[in-house]
This record gives sequence, C-alpha cells and structure tokens, in this order.
Amino acid sequence: MNKLNIILLLLWYILLINLVNVNASALTSCLAPVKGQTVYPNNNTFSTLIVDENIYVSYTPSVLVYAANNNDVQTSVNCAVKLKMGITARSGGHSYENYGLGGRNNVMVVDLTNINEITIDSKSQTAKIGAGNKLGVIYDKLSQAGFLIPAGTCPSVGIGGHSLGGGFGMASRKYGFASDNIISMEMVDANGNLLKIDNKTNSDLFFALRGAGGGSYGIVTSFVFRIHPTPPQVTSMTLQFDINQVHQLFNAYNEVGPSLDNNIVLSLSLDTGILSIEGLYLGSSKNAKNAMNTFLSKAPKPTSSEFKQQTFFDSVVKFSYLSSNEVKNPKHHPYFFKAKSFLVNKGLTSQAIDSIVDFLKNANCNGFALFDLFGGATNIVDDTSSFIHRDVLYGIQLLSSWETKDQSNKCVKELNDFGKEFQSKFTSYFSYQNYIDRDLDDWQTRYYGHNFKRLVEIKSKYDPNNLFNFPQSIPVKV
Ligand SMILES: Cc1cc2nc3c(=O)[nH]c(=O)nc-3n(C[C@H](O)[C@H](O)[C@H](O)COP(=O)(O)OP(=O)(O)OC[C@H]3O[C@@H](n4cnc5c(N)ncnc54)[C@H](O)[C@@H]3O)c2cc1C
Ligand SMILES: *[C@@H]1O[C@H](CO)[C@@H](O)[C@H](O)[C@H]1NC(C)=O
Ligand SMILES: *[C@@H]1O[C@H](CO)[C@@H](O)[C@H](O)[C@H]1NC(C)=O
Repeated sequence: MNKLNIILLLLWYILLINLVNVNASALTSCLAPVKGQTVYPNNNTFSTLIVDENIYVSYTPSVLVYAANNNDVQTSVNCAVKLKMGITARSGGHSYENYGLGGRNNVMVVDLTNINEITIDSKSQTAKIGAGNKLGVIYDKLSQAGFLIPAGTCPSVGIGGHSLGGGFGMASRKYGFASDNIISMEMVDANGNLLKIDNKTNSDLFFALRGAGGGSYGIVTSFVFRIHPTPPQVTSMTLQFDINQVHQLFNAYNEVGPSLDNNIVLSLSLDTGILSIEGLYLGSSKNAKNAMNTFLSKAPKPTSSEFKQQTFFDSVVKFSYLSSNEVKNPKHHPYFFKAKSFLVNKGLTSQAIDSIVDFLKNANCNGFALFDLFGGATNIVDDTSSFIHRDVLYGIQLLSSWETKDQSNKCVKELNDFGKEFQSKFTSYFSYQNYIDRDLDDWQTRYYGHNFKRLVEIKSKYDPNNLFNFPQSIPVKV
C-alpha cells in the first residue's frame, strides 16, 4: 500500500468513527424517553445478552431495548424510522436463524421479556398474555388456575415468535396450534401506532399474524388466548422399540395415526440406534391404554413402555427434561444446530425410512429426527388464519448439532444436501415456518403456499416501506 492510500484509509476511518458516534448519540437521545433499560454494545453485559439459543448464527445489534410497556415499543419504532435503522422484535430468542436479532448486524432489537403480564379470566376461558412470556411460565401460571394452551415442549421458547408461526405441542391434536387459539392481539405498526387486532378489527392482519406474523408486520405486545381446562390427570407415555423394527413401527404410525384419538399426541424419535415414542394423553392412564390399543396392536412390541398418570404441569416438566424450577424460570441452553422441516401427508415409504436411517447412521455430525403426529385439530382449515399446513400426517424435524464453530460448514452442508434430496423425493413440497431455515429454496411457497400473495398485499398495506424485514420476511412485492 502506498502512503497516499494509507492516509486515505486513515481519513476514511476517522470519518467512519465520527459517523458511528453521531449515530450512536442520536440513537441514545432518541431512545432517552424509554422507561425500560437500553443496552448498547459498549456495555460489558451486552455480549452475553445477544447469545440466543442457536449459536451457529450470530448477529450484533446496535442496541437492545428492554421495553417496559407498549409506549416503549412505540418510541423504539419511531426512533428506528427517524434514524433509518432496522428494527426487530425478540420474544424468546429461539429463532433457528437468530431472526430475533434481525438476521443481520446493526439493528435495533426490541426485547419483550419485561412485557410479561398474564391475566387469566376463568369465566370467559381467556387469558391476556404479554408477548415476552416464555412457554414454561405460561404453562405454570395457567395450570395453577386449571388451564392450558396448546404449545411447544421447550419452556424457554417465547410465546411471541412461537404463536405467530404456528406452535405445535402435546395438546395440539385436541386444540390446534397455539396460533389457532389467538383471539386478539395488540401490535405496534410501522407508524408507531398501537393497533387492536381481532377477527373484526384489522381482520386482514388477524389473518396474516396467525401463521405468518413473526417479524414481518409489526411488534405484537400482547395476545388474548382461548384457554382450555386441564384434565385432573393426564398420562405421559414413553415407549422404546428395537431399531430393527423401524419399518413395522412406521406402518402402525402411518396407518393408525390419522384416526388416533385427538386426546393423544405422539412424537416418534429416531436416533442412531434409538427408536422411541413419547406421547401425551389428556386423561387417565386407563383411558390412555384403551385409546392406544389399535396402535399398539399394529406396532412392534415395545422393549419398554411406561404410562404415567400425572398432572398436566408435571407432564410439561417431564417432556422438558429439566427441573420443575427451571420450567418456571426458563433460560437458554445455547448450542450449535441446524434443522430441516418436512411435512408428510401420507406415510413415508419404506425407501424413505431407509434413506433417513442411513443418513443418521453415516452422518459426520450428531443427527436425530422427530416425527410429530399432526392431524386432529391441527388439520382444521380456518380461513381466518394464514397457516396452510392443514392436511399433514406428521411433521418431521431433522436436526444436526455439533460442538465447535469450525464444524459448522461441514455439518450444515451435510444436512442441507440430504434435506434437499429427501424433500424432493419423499415428502410434500411444504415446510413448517417455525423451524425457519435460511437455506431452504422457495420458502415463500413452502411456508405460505397459496396465501403468500395475500400476505404480501397485507404487508404492503401496513408496512409499505418494509421497516420490519429480515432475510425471510414477507416482502412488500411478490
Ligand atoms: C429448543 C427449541 C425447541 C422448540 N420446540 C418447539 C416445539 O415444540 N413446537 C414448535 O412449534 N416450535 C418449537 N420451536 C420453534 C419455535 O416455535 C420458533 O423458533 C419460534 O419462532 C421461537 O419464538 P421466540 O419468540 O422464542 O423466538 P425469537 O427469536 O424471539 O423470534 C422469532 C421470530 O419471531 C419474531 N418475533 C418474536 N416476537 C415477536 C413479536 N412479539 N411480534 C412480532 N414478531 C415477533 C422475531 O422477530 C423473529 O423473526 C422450538 C425452538 C427451539 C430453539
Ligand atoms: C449495562 O447494562 C445493564 C443491564 O444489562 C445495566 O444494569 C447497567 O446499568 C448498564 N451499565 C452501564 C454502564 O450502562
Ligand atoms: C370472532 O371471534 C369471536 C371471539 O373468539 C368469536 O366468538 C366469533 O365467532 C368470531 N367470528 C368469526 C366470524 O369468526
């Protein structure tokens, strides 16, 4: 490099530092009215606050705003517009691609952790739930009052991202996805206005948010959910099988799965050498055994089986594999992972099963596959929801995890290559948007199908300048 170049580079550097400083101070003063904490990169706790569940991808925001109320969210949106910054909502920080941090650097993250009210109305069987709540806290508070919502099994997942993209769990064949149970929402839009959204007011947004809402339309601050009485006792089921009987087990799953009692959810897991089913029945163990009869008569004989009658909350604790105390006070368990989602309408063929068994056996990284039995209430078509996956027999999640950053490329490539081929050969075209995957081609159709065009129209109506965007957000133009 010659001297002139070095001098130019230095000048450029000085200019850049000044620009960053000016922006930083403009940002600080714009955000000054915020009641909650604002944490900037120069704060030494900042680096720990941007470690989300998946550490394979990471981004560095310009500021974290821990909104204390709706007003703080509105102030943040107004500042982002004024300063031409990107802005993103983070509820539980469990996005597979870290989109809770915007999916890119230098955005304003509005963290909703402290917007965490839970108000239960037992009479109307509804609950107002702040968007910053984690699932474990919600299960705890609701079950104390004798209620549940259908939602996922991981306690540290945030209700915000989860219920805006679906939300499947152990009560879903009876009560649908979490998103199906949303009655109304409050959302701060791109103009900084707080909108009330239900099936009458802003009903187009009601449709869009219930299935395609995560990150694309605005920042949801609270939900009203329909809640359901918990049965006095439920039955958790754990069945182990001989891996050599995988084909017979899938035959039973494929054949009996669609007609299985809606009080049951089953999740089959396939690991190298391990084949098991976990399930929940919303009722007594006696009734659970009856309801499982047809399935068990078709399935191979389990090498071990347990039907455990317990309270609903204890079943939540069981399936979390955490202590009850941690379920009530959830925290992240950051690790390196990548996942693929496939949806199956009719059972997998034996060729498909062999292909996935072989992949798991030969993979360089730690893989396992989960087959969640959908159907029941999850398949009820609802034209006030943008969630399209309503004819699914099971949802497959193929997950790979590893220990150090230098393994990332190899593990991701191996999974991507297999996933692409497997999906094109053996499953439906579609994938589940809550297992969001940046490497998925034509995700627009795979996640949102025939609704995509309408979602784009609604987007361009409420956020024409595309303030709320991330690498897989609903765009303003098709
Ligand atoms: C360990 C683990 C277990 C999981 N288990 C299940 C399961 O059992 N069932 C299931 O269905 N899914 C499950 N998921 C997937 C989960 O539902 C999604 O990752 C979900 O998007 C996470 O939501 P979040 O609020 O925690 O994440 P975040 O990273 O905070 O947000 C995810 C996306 O939603 C947006 N968003 C978040 N909050 C809001 C808001 N208030 N308003 C507008 N947009 C918002 C974010 O900007 C981001 O784009 C699991 C994920 C993990 C990591
Ligand atoms: C850094 O952020 C924390 C919140 O995580 C806050 O309590 C603390 O006051 C901040 N420190 C400074 C110097 O701003
Ligand atoms: C709108 O929502 C309310 C509350 O859940 C419900 O009672 C009503 O039937 C819904 N109307 C339509 C048209 O879906």
